[in-house]
Amino acid sequence: MPSLIQNWISLSGIILAACSFFAVACLIAIDFYAGFGNPYMGILTYVVAPSFLSAGLLLILLGVLLERRRRRRLAPGEIPRHPRIDFNVARQRNTFLIVVVVTFVFLIFTAFGSYRTYQFTESVQFCGQTCHAVMKPEYTAYQNSPHARVTCVECHIGQGATWFVKSKLSGSYQVYAALFEKYPRPIPTPVRNLRPAQETCEQCHWPQKFYGAVEKIRTHYKYDEKNSPWTVELLLKVGGGDSTHGPVGGIHWHMNVANKVEYIAADEARQQIPWVRITDHQGHVTVYEAKEGRLKPPQVTPEAMRRMDCVDCHNRPTHIFRSPDESVDMSMALGRIDPSLPSIKKNAVDVLAADYQTTNEALKKIADTLSQKYGSSNRETVQRAVNELQKIYRENFFPEMKSRWKVYPNNIGHFQWAGCFRCHDGEHTSTDGKTISADCTSCHTIIAQGPGAELKTLSAQGLEFQHPSEDLGDAWKGQKCSECHNGGSM
Ligand code: HEC
Ligand code: HEC
Ligand code: HEC
Ligand code: HEC
Ligand code: HEC
Ligand code: HEC
Repeated sequence: MPSLIQNWISLSGIILAACSFFAVACLIAIDFYAGFGNPYMGILTYVVAPSFLSAGLLLILLGVLLERRRRRRLAPGEIPRHPRIDFNVARQRNTFLIVVVVTFVFLIFTAFGSYRTYQFTESVQFCGQTCHAVMKPEYTAYQNSPHARVTCVECHIGQGATWFVKSKLSGSYQVYAALFEKYPRPIPTPVRNLRPAQETCEQCHWPQKFYGAVEKIRTHYKYDEKNSPWTVELLLKVGGGDSTHGPVGGIHWHMNVANKVEYIAADEARQQIPWVRITDHQGHVTVYEAKEGRLKPPQVTPEAMRRMDCVDCHNRPTHIFRSPDESVDMSMALGRIDPSLPSIKKNAVDVLAADYQTTNEALKKIADTLSQKYGSSNRETVQRAVNELQKIYRENFFPEMKSRWKVYPNNIGHFQWAGCFRCHDGEHTSTDGKTISADCTSCHTIIAQGPGAELKTLSAQGLEFQHPSEDLGDAWKGQKCSECHNGGSM
């Protein structure tokens, strides 16, 4: 008796199964030697391709069943042992050649195709644009950032197999979430399973590098009718964390490989930090606790602790959602919004900060509000301001995803978010009486400040901070800047 497998359905099943087996083997080999940086590649390798393999196997089975039914109807002698292939018959010879060529071409394309798919899923287009609506805020903000040329996977996944497996698991969930619109709006931050910065950021930024002091010039405009400018120029003591490459100290002291800074946050967004512990290079341990909201001993567990790394300060290196206050100041300083329009700072910030359902609604409201406030006088200047504000809106606000500055804290400074003052508020003390410094000169030196967009005098010794609002007097002291300055209108 010839084998039941010898029928056309089973034979096509065999070809399908063989090809997908070959594809799976190729993909696994790429995964093994090069490593995928992308979770969706994993889905292709471990879900899609194998399902073709199973489909092939099922076809074989189906063919066998059908063949058995057919044979029951035939007399025993009628069944030939093998299909008869006669190469002397031109038609059969040609069919055979076609089958061989097609299979061969198909195999080559499978190999080539798997490689191309691999490259595509690694690309920024795939991450940022395929799930368009979901990732639009992060993608847009990223394109306008210093890291616009770094691919998503370089920060989010990095190299190596173990993180790939982790990301593959969460990646499958993400595909499901995107397909069934199950994703949260806005996408929550911080990213819980972000890979440690040593394995991502530090692949490009050598943490031993000594930066010295970095100069920052910030021009602000007040909320008065004249839009009075106020400029602060400071030297940030970024410093370094490795004694072989420069003095250890300054802000990057936290990153000294010999020191370990750990903390426990009381909230999901890591904005309240009641407990900090440092272990220095000699193994000496100091615990600092906040005056308010102290943790009870059972809350201090190793699982709750997080070791401080780059992302605890630089949590917005690329997805920078600028606040209305910050973006309007910047556009005014660059001359894209004319500061001679009365109260333009306040009007612009108010219209940007309002709540909208859709981007189009916001863009229309911006145009309407400005033309209503400034009438038909100097139409060209007003139109330029409208264009600039609409651009700011499109790049930083995403009402469809509920993403905007308010929901994404930026921990780098202390002006609009608690940032450094989460620990450096002068209220974190240790049992032996030490305090995490809140001294205004420990992190930066103010070298110039005052009214005017350009400042003439610079002071090398540093100046004491002068708060720009005269009406306020000393009322700002003893409070966090972010308690009054929140990025919206004052
Ligand atoms: C320079 C490194 C870097 C690059 C490049 C990068 N990200 Fe991020 N991403 C981060 C960091 C850091 C966070 C915030 C992590 C935290 O606070 O825990 C983040 C957070 C996110 C979040 C969570 C929401 C949020 O804003 O906090 C999403 C979604 C995201 N990134 C998607 C992307 C996509 C899509 C790309 C490519 C278009 C990309 N990222 C490129 C570093 C990067
Ligand atoms: C693939 C390489 C790469 C990776 C990974 C990377 N960066 Fe960068 N980063 C760069 C480059 C290149 C620049 C300089 C961009 C420029 O000046 O045009 C930069 C600039 C910066 C700056 C200065 C930005 C500014 O405003 O001048 C900071 C801060 C920074 N990176 C932090 C990070 C952090 C934090 C991470 C990890 C979440 C990270 N980077 C991951 C390549 C990288
Ligand atoms: C008690 C509330 C309060 C605190 C705390 C406070 N400010 Fe202000 N700040 C104000 C007010 C009110 C104005 C005036 C608003 C205006 O007319 O522009 C102002 C104005 C400013 C301006 C001028 C431009 C602008 O954006 O309005 C700067 C810069 C500034 N403050 C910096 C700081 C810094 C830095 C800190 C923390 C060290 C701080 N402020 C703390 C209330 C406060
Ligand atoms: C304690 C907070 C903190 C930590 C932790 C930290 N940084 Fe920074 N870093 C800063 C501040 C503040 C600046 C000043 C520039 C600014 O405000 O944008 C800075 C500046 C930088 C710059 C730009 C220097 C320049 O010349 O403009 C780079 C690059 C950078 N950091 C990379 C890193 C990397 C990589 C890590 C992790 C190994 C790290 N930082 C950890 C706070 C921190
Ligand atoms: C999780 C808590 C925490 C956060 C957030 C934090 N720091 Fe610190 N920082 C510490 C601790 C703890 C010390 C060490 C205090 C000590 O024992 O002297 C320190 C020390 C410093 C020092 C002194 C280093 C030296 O030379 O001795 C500087 C400067 C500094 N931090 C800057 C910053 C800046 C800037 C930010 C925000 C971008 C920041 N820190 C955010 C906990 C923190
Ligand atoms: C723990 C470190 C630290 C301490 C303490 C600190 N600052 Fe700062 N400050 C920073 C950093 C970092 C930035 C820059 C953030 C950035 O790049 O936007 C900054 C920025 C500023 C700015 C410019 C803000 C802007 O956007 O224009 C002012 C003004 C300022 N600080 C005033 C103060 C005053 C006043 C005090 C004392 C009450 C103080 N700082 C204490 C770290 C610190």
